[in-house]
Amino acid sequence: MGISRLNETGLSGLEFIPEVPQAGTERSDTGFLWDFWYLAMRSDEISGKRLAKAMLLEVPLVLGRTSEGKAFAMCDACPHRGIPLSYGHFDGKNLQCSYHGWEFEACSGQCVLIPSLTSHDKLKVERIGAVHFPCEERDGYVWVYMNATGSKLPEAIPPAPELPKFSAKYKVTRLECELPSHIDHGIIGLMDPAHGPFVHQSWFWRSKKSIHEKSKQFEPIENGFRMSKHSPSTNSLPYQLLKKMTGEPVTTTIDFVLPNMRFEEIHSGKLWFSSRATVTPVRRDLCRIDFVAAWNLPFPVSIFRIFAKIFLRQDQETMIQQSEGLKHNPRLMLIDDADRPAKWYFALKQNLIESRRTGVPVPHPMSGPVTLHWRS
Ligand code: FES
Ligand SMILES: [Fe+2]
Repeated sequence: MGISRLNETGLSGLEFIPEVPQAGTERSDTGFLWDFWYLAMRSDEISGKRLAKAMLLEVPLVLGRTSEGKAFAMCDACPHRGIPLSYGHFDGKNLQCSYHGWEFEACSGQCVLIPSLTSHDKLKVERIGAVHFPCEERDGYVWVYMNATGSKLPEAIPPAPELPKFSAKYKVTRLECELPSHIDHGIIGLMDPAHGPFVHQSWFWRSKKSIHEKSKQFEPIENGFRMSKHSPSTNSLPYQLLKKMTGEPVTTTIDFVLPNMRFEEIHSGKLWFSSRATVTPVRRDLCRIDFVAAWNLPFPVSIFRIFAKIFLRQDQETMIQQSEGLKHNPRLMLIDDADRPAKWYFALKQNLIESRRTGVPVPHPMSGPVTLHWRS
């Protein structure tokens, strides 16, 4: 997946978007990044002995929670004949397949019983395992570490991502929406500064007329980039209110981190707002945005949700329309400076894949801080 460059007169800075894999292409070329934590579902979807299904990176999963409260994730296919284990029965410790009753210890995937065996058989049941994945819970979500090698664990798995919070008491809310798109389109849509005045026009945010030139500094961070700490645009009503409330300046910082996370932090005096959006690759033609926000501002969850839903809905409708056009696999562009973050995303991803293949350390596409200019 190379990024082709055009340097003909008048076209400098323009690149074509690397071709995004379409449904039906080779399994090996899905454009997904393995060996990262991905958000599978909300914690409250696995309660009691209920089994729940999810799909991450085109891998079907069955998730549940042991009677001790530990979440687990297994590939939703019995290693014997492949029937989904989610049709089976879970007793709080072991998962029994519905077809021939093999039982697997849910957290390790290890087979503990094959009912058809007799004393004549020498098969060592414990040598058989169902594919399972590391699984952890944070902020009310179940995270699954999608290691490329199935049940073989890498030496050290980093802790699952967590939303930063800045005081003991805070409000929290979660929202999600599905997009009929490849994760790459979901992500570049999420970090795109130029669609705001067109897609998110509303009386409480901004109008098309409020479009003006902006300059923002960006800096490289590990596996990503940061829009450096700055005072956000004062033509947005919520920021004006916040400034009035504390009498102190409002600052905001936005990070993008591979494989799929955008963090935003807003501070004004002791008041703070922290949010994270993740774009989860379900299939190559489907992704899901999970948005979680926490804050100690005197602002009710119900009102926040009304506005957040409007925003998500506007993005979702746009991306549903975009997917109509993408079905025909058009050639697409990335321009400077508004699409520079998208260029960094593709470069970060490509460099990581390359570094994993060659063992050479990942070069960062940014050599240092850089200021981007655009109108929005
Ligand atoms: S298919 Fe699961 S036990 Fe046979
Ligand atoms: Fe948007």
